[in-house]
Amino acid sequence: MGRLHVCDHPLIQHKVTFLRDKNTETKQFRELVDEIATLMAYEATRDFPLETIRVETPVIEADGKVIAGRMVGLIPILRAGLGMVDGVLKLLPSARVGHIGLYRDEVTLQPVEYYVSLPTDVTERELIVLDPMLATGGSANAAISILKGRGCRPTKLMCLIAAPEGLKAVQEAHPDIDIFVAALDSHLNEHGYIVPGLGDAGDRLYGTK
Ligand code: PRP
Ligand code: URA
Repeated sequence: MGRLHVCDHPLIQHKVTFLRDKNTETKQFRELVDEIATLMAYEATRDFPLETIRVETPVIEADGKVIAGRMVGLIPILRAGLGMVDGVLKLLPSARVGHIGLYRDEVTLQPVEYYVSLPTDVTERELIVLDPMLATGGSANAAISILKGRGCRPTKLMCLIAAPEGLKAVQEAHPDIDIFVAALDSHLNEHGYIVPGLGDAGDRLYGTK
């Protein structure tokens, strides 16, 4: 079973509260998503293996630890996942970025695929899927399945807000994926929105609607 990591550092909780606030305007909303993504990337990279190298300090030769050649790919689910990319790249600047375009049909709540573009060496990379919202889990499951179907190795899913329903759906469909969330909310409402949630993440990021 993929592990759930609730990244509840006080700085993250503070920023999530202002994300939820309906009076937070687009510019601040975008900045908060970016900042939370950076803080979550710190947690999501905690298991990266290290190797020892020798360096010369001004005083003596010493052993030091460096990340052991990890090749990472970031896969934002369009649109809203795009808002997390720069924040994660601040800590993983050499990661490549692939894009999966999915939108959720408003009536059926099923994900509809409209775009896939992946780096040429994507199968050699450990992939982290990015999407602020994990509601029914349909979009995250579809993105992970698309990647696996192309011979890729997705290992982690990073979401800002998750509903228990979506969490369960991903853990059942893809038990090999570790899931990182900033907040685990109460439930989905009758329209498939997370309660209390933050509304429509894509609309709030880009000022649509
Ligand atoms: C939102 C969100 C997720 C999806 C979550 O995207 O960014 O991708 O809904 O819902 P689910 O877990 O029930 O699939 P949306 O379909 O609104 O598209 P957008 O990002 O382009 O606004
Ligand atoms: N997508 C969103 O953007 N928000 C929700 O609450 C559910 C799905």
